[in-house]
Amino acid sequence: MELLSTNRIAMFAGSREEEARLMVKQIFQERQHHFNADHECQSKWTRVELRPKIVDLVFNIMMKMVAGKRYNGNGIVDEEARQFQSIMREISELLGSSTINDFLPFLQRIDFQGVERRMIRVKEKMDSFFQSLVDDHRKIKIESGENNNIETSMSFVDVILSLQDSNPQAYDDETIKGLMLAMLLAGTDTAVITIEWAMSLLLNHANTMQKAWLEINGNVGNDRLVNESDYSKLNFLQSVINETFRLFPGVPVILPRESSDDCTLSGFDIKKGTILLINAWSIHREEKQWEDATSFIPERFGKDGAEGSNKLLMFGGGRRICPGGLLARRVVCLGLGSLIQSFEWERIGADAIDLTEEPGLSMCKLHPLLALCKPRQPMIHILNKL
Ligand code: HEM
Repeated sequence: MELLSTNRIAMFAGSREEEARLMVKQIFQERQHHFNADHECQSKWTRVELRPKIVDLVFNIMMKMVAGKRYNGNGIVDEEARQFQSIMREISELLGSSTINDFLPFLQRIDFQGVERRMIRVKEKMDSFFQSLVDDHRKIKIESGENNNIETSMSFVDVILSLQDSNPQAYDDETIKGLMLAMLLAGTDTAVITIEWAMSLLLNHANTMQKAWLEINGNVGNDRLVNESDYSKLNFLQSVINETFRLFPGVPVILPRESSDDCTLSGFDIKKGTILLINAWSIHREEKQWEDATSFIPERFGKDGAEGSNKLLMFGGGRRICPGGLLARRVVCLGLGSLIQSFEWERIGADAIDLTEEPGLSMCKLHPLLALCKPRQPMIHILNKL
């Protein structure tokens, strides 16, 4: 309620838009650099590896909201940023790895493969990194006294530190660090993956890409970049995002449940303590629920972009439903909208983009997306000024 409410999310709209602007600017400037100030360059295609751009966008958005600072990209590679990136990379690797110890419990005692030792090491590094962030914020809060209590400039750490004042036991430093990690782990990869899948699907369906651009062009125009207040007017873009979530839900098997009592589910008797895994990926491709279920057809979500979307499970469901759904939609819509509005996109060569998935907790594209891009002619005057 304190961290992901509509109001709190709205407070950071400006900083998310700033990150989208920086992403577009970086792609545009890298092209200029590549063509070495060739005046004809705007009509030429260049190759872009999209994943690192999207990672920078989402990571910086999340870090700004969580800790009030950005860490990735646009030349920012100081020691602190490097340290942070390496911790996050190691955590992701460990989260996605399965170890033989899980299946042969007697090996746990000797920590076969050394996974547990790695986990403890990274936990210590992460703990001291987050603790120093919390301490920095606490110091600034104390030094600036009341002046720092300006709601609009408060990052998540500041919000929880102010709650700590009134209830120190409920909001101790462990809780703050746990929340920071939960937000970064749950909110970064998933949104990156979704934007990359959406771009891949659009590159395989040029008419749909054109339709999404026409909608942005009609509602936003060419005199400014798309922003979050445009979201409600971009129904087709929302259909594209829903269809991406349907075919490639970032978390294909939602977090496990355990039955608290014996029960019967769809005619199956389930014992108390059974772990229940829900395969959202498969449910989203169920022929009985969706016509032509494996095809990419955003139009199926109707004029408002949301018809039938209540059948989707990309954010899970029930009491443990993803609390970041609203934020995720905003980030994905802004990232995707900015890329489509500013540039024309094409595949490299005639082959369709390979949509093979990588196995793991979150469902990434196996091969990072490479595409050709050039600035949209009517947007060049804006891109030149970014
Ligand atoms: C496209 C982006 C995202 C997708 C596809 C996604 C998906 C999910 C799914 C499927 C779950 C499990 C829900 C369940 O078990 O019912 C989940 C949990 C969670 N998500 Fe997200 N998520 C996304 C973005 C975010 C963001 C941006 C944040 C926060 C900043 C976030 C924070 C969380 C947290 C904290 C949980 C654990 C909730 C709990 O166990 O009580 N997620 N997410």
